[in-house]
Amino acid sequence: MADMQRFPPAPRPMEGGDCGSLPSQADAVRPRGGPSAEPLLEASGIHTYYGASHILHGVDFRIGRGEAVGLMGRNGMGKTTLIRCMLGHLRSRQGKICWRGEDVTQAAAYYIARLGVAYVPEGRGIFPNLTVKENLVMAAGQGVDGRRDWTYPRVLETFPRLAERLDHGGGQLSGGEQQMLTIGRALLTNPDLLILDEATEGLAPLIARDIWRIIGEIRSSGIATLIVDKNYAAVMDLADRCVVMIKGTVVFNDASNQLTGELVQKHLGV
Ligand SMILES: Nc1ncnc2c1ncn2[C@@H]1O[C@H](COP(=O)(O)OP(=O)(O)OP(=O)(O)O)[C@@H](O)[C@H]1O
Ligand SMILES: [Mg+2]
Repeated sequence: MADMQRFPPAPRPMEGGDCGSLPSQADAVRPRGGPSAEPLLEASGIHTYYGASHILHGVDFRIGRGEAVGLMGRNGMGKTTLIRCMLGHLRSRQGKICWRGEDVTQAAAYYIARLGVAYVPEGRGIFPNLTVKENLVMAAGQGVDGRRDWTYPRVLETFPRLAERLDHGGGQLSGGEQQMLTIGRALLTNPDLLILDEATEGLAPLIARDIWRIIGEIRSSGIATLIVDKNYAAVMDLADRCVVMIKGTVVFNDASNQLTGELVQKHLGV
């Protein structure tokens, strides 16, 4: 965000971060074949607790520049917890998190956000008392390399429903419109990575379809996307690669077309 400049300098993350040399996921869950994209965000050996509850058990996860990755798993398997750890909202007790090779394991959440990650959280993230226009304008900024691919007019073009409601309060919008506003705000920060956690949850099918179309557009525009959604078919259709979690561990990490019906049944129970 443009107004991030007002924050004091971020604490330097932990030194010693040659993230490229970290031990990686067991071969059993290593993606097979295909050129691997330059890593953007990489988590290795993550162990996380809520109080005494051990939630993530040595999770390895990576997403490369421009890659679309689906993060799947039944309720309570640790998807959101992993995302929150990688964004610095939660501290992991063990493990390492790197952004473009820089160790950000100890970095503050706002520092990581400034590096080019935009997050659309479960349950939306708008300011209900501000208008649609205000919500959008205050998010606008350039990407870390000065890119301004996503501008206010482009967002309005992508979300015509928002263009019709510029003076409405954020809280007056329907669930689908609020989700569009949240995604529009995220795009206006011109991120390198967009994380969408249950972006279509609770939306009417037609609106959800619209959101999927927009996620496809975002993906084609070269922004890396990490997608968590219960619509597994849509995720597999869009993502280059899928990662499946069960009880805080990664049990599948491979090209989407390798996630066969049998594996979907086994890991996701559908
Ligand atoms: N703030 C919290 N305090 C304590 N336990 C929590 C907290 N948030 C999540 N948990 C627990 O951690 C585990 C993982 O939750 P998480 O929200 O990461 O799962 P998820 O895969 O995102 O699930 P869902 O698909 O329902 O969103 C669950 O057992 C959940 O009950
Ligand atoms: Mg979740």
